[in-house]
Amino acid sequence: MNETKIALVTGANKGIGYEIATGLGALGYRVGVGARDEARLEAAVEKLRAAGLDAFGVPLDVTADQSVTAAAELIDQQAGRLDVLVNNAGVSGPTGPDWGQDPTTLDLDVVRTVVDTNVFGVIRVTNAMLPLLRRSASPRIVNVSSSVGSLSLQADPNVEIGPVMAAYAPTKSYLNAFTVQYARQFAGTNLLINAACPGLVATDFTGFFGPRTPEQGAAVAIRLATLPDDGPTGSFFNDDGVVPW
Ligand SMILES: NC(=O)c1ccc[n+]([C@@H]2O[C@H](COP(=O)([O-])OP(=O)(O)OC[C@H]3O[C@@H](n4cnc5c(N)ncnc54)[C@H](OP(=O)(O)O)[C@@H]3O)[C@@H](O)[C@H]2O)c1
Repeated sequence: MNETKIALVTGANKGIGYEIATGLGALGYRVGVGARDEARLEAAVEKLRAAGLDAFGVPLDVTADQSVTAAAELIDQQAGRLDVLVNNAGVSGPTGPDWGQDPTTLDLDVVRTVVDTNVFGVIRVTNAMLPLLRRSASPRIVNVSSSVGSLSLQADPNVEIGPVMAAYAPTKSYLNAFTVQYARQFAGTNLLINAACPGLVATDFTGFFGPRTPEQGAAVAIRLATLPDDGPTGSFFNDDGVVPW
């Protein structure tokens, strides 16, 4: 088997995803840069290549079956297998002036859109990539989640967890729950799947508010993407260790 490991990062044209791609590239991975917009995809791939990294473009809208199927075909042609899948693409949906999403006035179409990207998108991409991941000796899947998806933290009045985000936060709880189901399905195999919280990172997503850089936010996903075979699976981590469900 070719020694160069192959990774796919969704939503890798900017923010945390771009830095995950950069970090994996710096570790010697050949990185598929997943992005839904052609121009943004090309710009990111060019930038990664200019930095000396082995990157290739993967047009990928995680909400579209056809796009995801085509992405799997492209990776099959380009690389023949996948060692790492990082499900990073995500949206928050519209928020109020305080960044909040009031559950009592939620627009169900907004909820559907956020679930479609943050949850169904992950399932859609993961299942499309599984035949390629199964060809790897040590497949790794990282789902970029958030501590706002932690029900324990959300329910603890002593924890400062930010505004009520009734559309976004539950999608990350849902994603965490799915992460556990996949881990159970692959128990006893070399496939390890975990959820990662990047912390509060200054990106487009947060209006560039937050104490952490995208590079810092990427670190936990990179660590989980490169776990040894005896590493954990079905768990939820940030830089400090395990995040409660
Ligand atoms: N920033 C934080 O503080 C923070 C905290 C916790 C968790 N997270 C999570 O970290 C991940 C990355 O967030 P970020 O802060 O880096 O945000 P970002 O800068 O807004 O990047 C989000 C990425 O996802 C892509 N994306 C959105 N919908 C997509 C779709 N349907 N198909 C393919 N790509 C899609 C975006 O592409 P376009 O450029 O085309 O829009 C972009 O590349 C998300 O899952 C987010 O929930 C972020």
